[in-house]
Amino acid sequence: MSTSSKAKERKKITTLSLRKFKQQQKPITMLTAYDYATAVAVDMAGIDTILVGDSLGMVVLGYENTLPVTMDDMIHHCKAVARGARYAMLIGDMPFMSYQASVDEAVRNAGRFLQEGGMDAVKLEGGRERLPAAGAIISAGIPVMGHLGLTPQSVHQLGGFKAQGKTAQAAKDLLDDALALEDAGCFSLVLETIPARLAQLVSERLEIPTIGIGAGIGCDGQVLVTHDLCGLFDRFTPRFVKKYADLHGEMARAFEAYKSDVQSREFPGDEHSIDMPEEQWQELLKALE
Ligand code: KIV
Repeated sequence: MSTSSKAKERKKITTLSLRKFKQQQKPITMLTAYDYATAVAVDMAGIDTILVGDSLGMVVLGYENTLPVTMDDMIHHCKAVARGARYAMLIGDMPFMSYQASVDEAVRNAGRFLQEGGMDAVKLEGGRERLPAAGAIISAGIPVMGHLGLTPQSVHQLGGFKAQGKTAQAAKDLLDDALALEDAGCFSLVLETIPARLAQLVSERLEIPTIGIGAGIGCDGQVLVTHDLCGLFDRFTPRFVKKYADLHGEMARAFEAYKSDVQSREFPGDEHSIDMPEEQWQELLKALE
Protein backbone atom coordinates (compact mmCIF):
# COMPACT_ATOMS: atom_id res chain seq x y z
CA MET A 1 0.00 0.00 0.00
CA SER A 2 1.34 3.46 -0.93
CA THR A 3 1.97 6.09 1.74
CA SER A 4 -0.80 8.30 0.39
CA SER A 5 -3.44 5.55 0.43
CA LYS A 6 -2.27 4.59 3.93
CA ALA A 7 -2.78 8.19 5.03
CA LYS A 8 -6.36 8.06 3.73
CA GLU A 9 -7.17 4.76 5.47
CA ARG A 10 -10.03 5.27 7.90
CA LYS A 11 -9.55 4.41 11.53
CA LYS A 12 -12.14 2.80 13.76
CA ILE A 13 -13.80 5.48 15.89
CA THR A 14 -13.48 4.99 19.65
CA THR A 15 -14.40 6.87 22.82
CA LEU A 16 -10.98 8.53 22.60
CA SER A 17 -11.68 9.75 19.04
CA LEU A 18 -14.90 11.38 20.23
CA ARG A 19 -13.10 13.13 23.11
CA LYS A 20 -10.44 14.34 20.65
CA PHE A 21 -13.11 15.66 18.26
CA LYS A 22 -14.58 17.72 21.10
CA GLN A 23 -11.15 19.14 21.95
CA GLN A 24 -10.61 19.98 18.28
CA GLN A 25 -14.14 21.44 18.05
CA LYS A 26 -14.88 19.01 15.23
CA PRO A 27 -18.64 18.26 15.21
CA ILE A 28 -19.40 14.59 15.88
CA THR A 29 -21.87 12.81 13.58
CA MET A 30 -24.17 10.06 14.77
CA LEU A 31 -27.10 8.29 13.09
CA THR A 32 -29.26 5.36 14.05
CA ALA A 33 -29.24 2.07 12.13
CA TYR A 34 -31.11 -1.14 12.79
CA ASP A 35 -30.12 -3.42 9.88
CA TYR A 36 -27.13 -4.52 7.80
CA ALA A 37 -27.86 -2.52 4.62
CA THR A 38 -28.35 0.78 6.47
CA ALA A 39 -25.27 0.17 8.59
CA VAL A 40 -23.17 -0.30 5.43
CA ALA A 41 -24.52 2.94 3.94
CA VAL A 42 -24.06 4.97 7.14
CA ASP A 43 -20.54 3.62 7.60
CA MET A 44 -19.62 4.32 3.96
CA ALA A 45 -20.81 7.91 4.40
CA GLY A 46 -18.16 8.30 7.12
CA ILE A 47 -20.57 8.90 10.01
CA ASP A 48 -18.60 8.70 13.30
CA THR A 49 -20.97 6.64 15.40
CA ILE A 50 -23.99 4.41 14.85
CA LEU A 51 -26.64 4.10 17.52
CA VAL A 52 -28.78 1.00 17.43
CA GLY A 53 -31.54 2.94 19.14
CA ASP A 54 -34.57 1.50 20.86
CA SER A 55 -36.39 3.91 18.52
CA LEU A 56 -36.46 0.77 16.36
CA GLY A 57 -39.55 -0.12 18.40
CA MET A 58 -41.39 2.73 16.69
CA VAL A 59 -39.79 3.13 13.27
CA VAL A 60 -39.11 -0.56 12.49
CA LEU A 61 -41.51 -2.56 14.66
CA GLY A 62 -44.43 -0.11 14.57
CA TYR A 63 -45.08 0.22 18.33
CA GLU A 64 -46.57 3.46 19.76
CA ASN A 65 -43.45 4.08 21.88
CA THR A 66 -40.17 2.39 22.82
CA LEU A 67 -41.43 0.59 25.95
CA PRO A 68 -42.23 -2.83 24.41
CA VAL A 69 -38.69 -3.27 23.00
CA THR A 70 -36.87 -6.25 24.57
CA MET A 71 -33.21 -7.16 25.03
CA ASP A 72 -33.63 -9.91 22.43
CA ASP A 73 -35.03 -7.38 19.89
CA MET A 74 -32.02 -5.14 20.52
CA ILE A 75 -29.42 -7.91 20.26
CA HIS A 76 -30.99 -9.19 17.02
CA HIS A 77 -30.70 -5.74 15.37
CA CYS A 78 -27.26 -4.98 16.90
CA LYS A 79 -25.85 -8.16 15.32
CA ALA A 80 -27.09 -7.10 11.88
CA VAL A 81 -25.60 -3.60 12.26
CA ALA A 82 -22.28 -4.97 13.53
CA ARG A 83 -22.02 -7.14 10.38
CA GLY A 84 -22.40 -4.01 8.22
CA ALA A 85 -20.27 -1.34 9.91
CA ARG A 86 -16.49 -1.39 10.04
CA TYR A 87 -15.34 2.06 11.16
CA ALA A 88 -18.13 3.78 13.07
CA MET A 89 -18.27 3.39 16.83
CA LEU A 90 -21.28 1.17 17.60
CA ILE A 91 -23.55 2.02 20.51
CA GLY A 92 -26.37 -0.25 21.67
CA ASP A 93 -29.37 1.34 23.37
CA MET A 94 -30.37 -0.45 26.59
CA PRO A 95 -34.16 -1.01 26.39
CA PHE A 96 -36.76 -0.25 29.05
CA MET A 97 -36.40 -2.48 32.14
CA SER A 98 -33.02 -3.88 31.11
CA TYR A 99 -31.16 -1.66 33.62
CA GLN A 100 -33.76 -0.17 36.00
CA ALA A 101 -34.64 -3.19 38.20
CA SER A 102 -31.19 -4.08 39.55
CA VAL A 103 -27.55 -3.18 39.07
CA ASP A 104 -26.61 -6.84 38.46
CA GLU A 105 -29.15 -7.15 35.67
CA ALA A 106 -27.94 -3.86 34.20
CA VAL A 107 -24.34 -5.11 34.05
CA ARG A 108 -25.31 -8.49 32.55
CA ASN A 109 -27.54 -6.89 29.93
CA ALA A 110 -24.89 -4.30 29.04
CA GLY A 111 -22.42 -7.19 28.65
CA ARG A 112 -24.75 -8.89 26.16
CA PHE A 113 -24.55 -5.83 23.87
CA LEU A 114 -20.77 -6.30 23.56
CA GLN A 115 -20.55 -10.10 23.78
CA GLU A 116 -23.51 -11.06 21.57
CA GLY A 117 -24.46 -7.85 19.75
CA GLY A 118 -20.96 -6.77 18.63
CA MET A 119 -21.40 -3.25 20.05
CA ASP A 120 -18.58 -1.06 21.38
CA ALA A 121 -20.62 0.74 24.04
CA VAL A 122 -24.12 1.08 25.51
CA LYS A 123 -26.47 4.00 26.09
CA LEU A 124 -28.94 4.35 28.94
CA GLU A 125 -31.50 7.01 29.83
CA GLY A 126 -31.72 8.99 33.06
CA GLY A 127 -29.75 11.18 35.46
CA ARG A 128 -28.54 10.77 39.04
CA GLU A 129 -31.03 7.94 39.70
CA ARG A 130 -29.04 5.86 37.16
CA LEU A 131 -25.59 6.42 38.72
CA PRO A 132 -25.41 2.98 40.45
CA ALA A 133 -26.21 1.15 37.17
CA ALA A 134 -24.02 3.39 35.00
CA GLY A 135 -21.11 3.17 37.49
CA ALA A 136 -21.31 -0.64 37.71
CA ILE A 137 -21.43 -1.04 33.92
CA ILE A 138 -18.43 1.28 33.52
CA SER A 139 -16.58 -0.69 36.25
CA ALA A 140 -17.17 -3.81 34.16
CA GLY A 141 -15.18 -2.14 31.36
CA ILE A 142 -18.16 -1.19 29.21
CA PRO A 143 -18.29 2.42 27.92
CA VAL A 144 -21.58 4.14 28.78
CA MET A 145 -23.28 7.02 27.00
CA GLY A 146 -25.89 8.88 29.07
CA HIS A 147 -29.16 10.36 27.77
CA LEU A 148 -30.87 13.38 29.36
CA GLY A 149 -33.78 15.68 28.55
CA LEU A 150 -36.65 13.99 26.75
CA THR A 151 -36.00 10.39 27.73
CA PRO A 152 -38.57 8.39 25.70
CA GLN A 153 -38.60 5.42 28.11
CA SER A 154 -40.13 7.80 30.72
CA VAL A 155 -42.81 9.03 28.31
CA HIS A 156 -45.63 8.30 30.77
CA GLN A 157 -43.84 10.01 33.65
CA LEU A 158 -43.09 13.04 31.45
CA GLY A 159 -46.71 13.19 30.27
CA GLY A 160 -45.84 12.75 26.58
CA PHE A 161 -42.99 13.49 24.16
CA LYS A 162 -42.47 17.05 25.47
CA ALA A 163 -39.47 19.39 25.56
CA GLN A 164 -37.60 19.30 28.89
CA GLY A 165 -35.45 21.69 30.94
CA LYS A 166 -37.53 24.79 30.23
CA THR A 167 -37.66 26.15 33.78
CA ALA A 168 -34.64 27.41 35.71
CA GLN A 169 -35.02 24.56 38.23
CA ALA A 170 -35.41 21.86 35.56
CA ALA A 171 -32.41 23.27 33.68
CA LYS A 172 -30.27 23.28 36.88
CA ASP A 173 -31.33 19.67 37.62
CA LEU A 174 -30.37 18.64 34.10
CA LEU A 175 -26.95 20.29 34.40
CA ASP A 176 -26.38 18.55 37.77
CA ASP A 177 -27.39 15.21 36.20
CA ALA A 178 -24.97 15.81 33.34
CA LEU A 179 -22.08 16.62 35.69
CA ALA A 180 -22.88 13.55 37.83
CA LEU A 181 -22.90 11.25 34.78
CA GLU A 182 -19.57 12.71 33.64
CA ASP A 183 -18.12 12.14 37.14
CA ALA A 184 -19.37 8.55 37.05
CA GLY A 185 -17.28 7.99 33.90
CA CYS A 186 -19.77 8.24 31.03
CA PHE A 187 -17.88 8.92 27.79
CA SER A 188 -20.62 11.07 26.21
CA LEU A 189 -24.20 12.27 26.70
CA VAL A 190 -27.21 12.54 24.39
CA LEU A 191 -29.24 15.71 25.04
CA GLU A 192 -32.74 15.33 23.61
CA THR A 193 -35.33 18.09 23.04
CA ILE A 194 -34.08 20.74 25.45
CA PRO A 195 -33.60 24.49 24.89
CA ALA A 196 -30.63 25.22 22.64
CA ARG A 197 -29.00 27.61 25.13
CA LEU A 198 -29.24 25.05 27.93
CA ALA A 199 -27.65 22.39 25.67
CA GLN A 200 -24.84 24.81 24.82
CA LEU A 201 -24.24 25.64 28.48
CA VAL A 202 -24.14 21.93 29.42
CA SER A 203 -21.77 21.23 26.51
CA GLU A 204 -19.44 24.03 27.66
CA ARG A 205 -19.43 22.79 31.29
CA LEU A 206 -18.63 19.17 30.38
CA GLU A 207 -15.35 17.71 29.18
CA ILE A 208 -17.11 14.76 27.56
CA PRO A 209 -18.87 15.35 24.23
CA THR A 210 -22.61 16.00 24.07
CA ILE A 211 -24.67 14.73 21.13
CA GLY A 212 -27.84 16.70 20.51
CA ILE A 213 -31.19 15.79 19.03
CA GLY A 214 -33.61 18.69 19.07
CA ALA A 215 -31.09 20.50 21.28
CA GLY A 216 -29.68 23.13 18.91
CA ILE A 217 -26.32 23.89 17.38
CA GLY A 218 -24.32 24.27 20.62
CA CYS A 219 -23.84 20.52 21.20
CA ASP A 220 -20.56 18.78 20.32
CA GLY A 221 -22.35 16.56 17.82
CA GLN A 222 -25.72 15.72 16.36
CA VAL A 223 -27.83 12.58 16.03
CA LEU A 224 -31.00 11.90 14.05
CA VAL A 225 -33.15 8.83 13.67
CA THR A 226 -32.26 7.62 10.16
CA HIS A 227 -35.89 6.83 9.31
CA ASP A 228 -36.81 10.48 10.06
CA LEU A 229 -33.89 11.88 8.04
CA CYS A 230 -34.71 9.60 5.09
CA GLY A 231 -38.47 10.23 5.22
CA LEU A 232 -39.17 6.57 5.95
CA PHE A 233 -41.42 6.95 9.00
CA ASP A 234 -44.97 7.73 8.00
CA ARG A 235 -46.58 8.58 11.37
CA PHE A 236 -45.01 11.94 12.27
CA THR A 237 -41.80 13.95 11.86
CA PRO A 238 -40.57 15.82 14.94
CA ARG A 239 -40.03 19.58 14.40
CA PHE A 240 -36.27 19.27 14.92
CA VAL A 241 -35.80 16.78 12.06
CA LYS A 242 -34.35 17.89 8.75
CA LYS A 243 -35.66 15.52 6.07
CA TYR A 244 -32.91 14.79 3.54
CA ALA A 245 -34.92 12.38 1.38
CA ASP A 246 -38.40 11.05 0.78
CA LEU A 247 -37.70 7.32 0.72
CA HIS A 248 -41.27 6.49 1.68
CA GLY A 249 -42.49 8.25 -1.48
CA GLU A 250 -39.67 6.66 -3.49
CA MET A 251 -40.62 3.17 -2.22
CA ALA A 252 -44.30 3.74 -2.98
CA ARG A 253 -43.36 4.80 -6.53
CA ALA A 254 -41.16 1.70 -7.01
CA PHE A 255 -43.84 -0.67 -5.66
CA GLU A 256 -46.52 0.83 -7.92
CA ALA A 257 -44.21 0.60 -10.97
CA TYR A 258 -43.49 -3.06 -10.13
CA LYS A 259 -47.21 -3.83 -9.76
CA SER A 260 -47.94 -2.20 -13.09
CA ASP A 261 -45.04 -4.06 -14.83
CA VAL A 262 -46.23 -7.43 -13.48
CA GLN A 263 -49.83 -6.76 -14.44
CA SER A 264 -48.85 -5.64 -17.96
CA ARG A 265 -46.32 -8.54 -18.32
CA GLU A 266 -43.45 -6.05 -18.79
CA PHE A 267 -41.60 -7.81 -15.99
CA PRO A 268 -39.71 -10.12 -16.01
CA GLY A 269 -38.01 -9.41 -19.36
CA ASP A 270 -35.52 -11.71 -21.12
CA GLU A 271 -32.69 -10.03 -19.22
CA HIS A 272 -34.24 -11.19 -15.92
CA SER A 273 -34.89 -14.76 -17.13
CA ILE A 274 -32.80 -17.91 -17.27
CA ASP A 275 -32.47 -20.07 -20.39
CA MET A 276 -31.37 -23.70 -20.83
CA PRO A 277 -29.28 -25.15 -23.70
CA GLU A 278 -31.42 -25.90 -26.80
CA GLU A 279 -30.32 -29.53 -27.00
CA GLN A 280 -31.38 -30.11 -23.38
CA TRP A 281 -34.74 -28.55 -24.14
CA GLN A 282 -35.20 -30.78 -27.21
CA GLU A 283 -34.20 -33.83 -25.16
CA LEU A 284 -36.85 -32.91 -22.59
CA LEU A 285 -39.55 -32.47 -25.26
CA LYS A 286 -38.60 -35.86 -26.74
CA ALA A 287 -38.78 -37.51 -23.37
CA LEU A 288 -42.26 -36.06 -22.88
CA GLU A 289 -43.61 -37.32 -26.24
O1 KIV B 1 -33.47 5.41 20.38
C1 KIV B 1 -32.93 6.33 19.77
O2 KIV B 1 -32.87 6.37 18.53
C2 KIV B 1 -32.35 7.40 20.56
C3 KIV B 1 -31.94 8.65 19.82
C4 KIV B 1 -33.14 9.44 19.54
C5 KIV B 1 -30.92 9.41 20.56
O3 KIV B 1 -32.23 7.29 21.73
